Amino acid sequence: MSIVKILRKTCRKTLFTTPSHGQKFFIFNKLRNFYKYDISETDCYNPQRALQKAEESAKNIYGTQSTSFLTNGSTSGIIAAVLTCVKKDEKVLIWRNAHPCHENAVKLAGAIPVFYDIPISKDWGVPMACDISDIENYLKKENIRALIVTSPSYEGIVSDIKELKNICNRYGTYLIVDEAHGALYPFSYNLPQSAVKIADFTIHSLHKTAGGLNPTALLHSTCELEVSKALQIINTTSPSYPLLASIEANINFLNSTRGRKKIETLIENIKTLKQNCTNCDFYGDDITKILVKHKDYTGYELSEYLYEKENIEDEKTNEKSTMLLCGIGTREKDLKRLENALKKCNKL
Ligand SMILES: Cc1ncc(COP(=O)(O)O)c(C=O)c1O
Repeated sequence: MSIVKILRKTCRKTLFTTPSHGQKFFIFNKLRNFYKYDISETDCYNPQRALQKAEESAKNIYGTQSTSFLTNGSTSGIIAAVLTCVKKDEKVLIWRNAHPCHENAVKLAGAIPVFYDIPISKDWGVPMACDISDIENYLKKENIRALIVTSPSYEGIVSDIKELKNICNRYGTYLIVDEAHGALYPFSYNLPQSAVKIADFTIHSLHKTAGGLNPTALLHSTCELEVSKALQIINTTSPSYPLLASIEANINFLNSTRGRKKIETLIENIKTLKQNCTNCDFYGDDITKILVKHKDYTGYELSEYLYEKENIEDEKTNEKSTMLLCGIGTREKDLKRLENALKKCNKL
């Protein structure tokens, strides 16, 4: 039985178990339905087997060796990946400006961080793709156990994961790809290629672009190492089954005809916006990230105009450009609003 079905089951036992709300006592009434589904590992529900089956099914969908459901974000996936493949005093090559969880993971493993830099685009003010020869130089010079790469970047710049994996293979280095912002990639040929089947470990945030609840995420592995021990160290022994059920439903949706169609529609709608806004330039490898530059405005001015005059909030801005994040929940009418705002921006 799936996790989703287990949550729908009516339990006829009187429970003297955790959680003590017993699915019937709603302290925060607005979340009434959440309480109703907030079960634990009692005999009458027994959700662990369902979780195992859901992760097995996910592994087949992604074509990985293992896919683990995470209810503590990509942060926990990155930490678990590092704890799995790195021992104390080994070196891990990480990007200097990466999400803080990269360096924290290395610290928790008792390992040594070695930092690489990525050049910033002069025109767009955003980090470029990983410089392959620079990475290779580090692997040549230092004894690096694992390399962590963020791809796509926040702004949708994708690194050459296949080539990085080739290099890692040459030097016996594990490759961990932080694909937190690329959770839609495995489900469309019109998006960049996902790292899931290439890297040793790939981490996805479902909550960022794939319509998941905060902070649902996935840790994929293609290598022989077991991630379960590391996950046990950092995870609670009382996982949230409503969140786990939402992960199961999320993956099944993305993999369904309806889900795939929704992603293609999103891509088409964003393509239309980009074609119609002839007064703006767009950049990046991932069409779903709207990284935009207007000839008459700095990134900060454009961001301020959108926020103050058009009630539109972007995800990230720099001096040169502004990035508006789209995902499975971005509606056509929201994109139209943005398109009109960007077109009008000429008149200021
Ligand atoms: C590139 C990148 N990696 C990892 C994370 C951590 O993800 P989560 O919030 O799912 O723990 C973030 C969050 O913003 C991120 O931007």
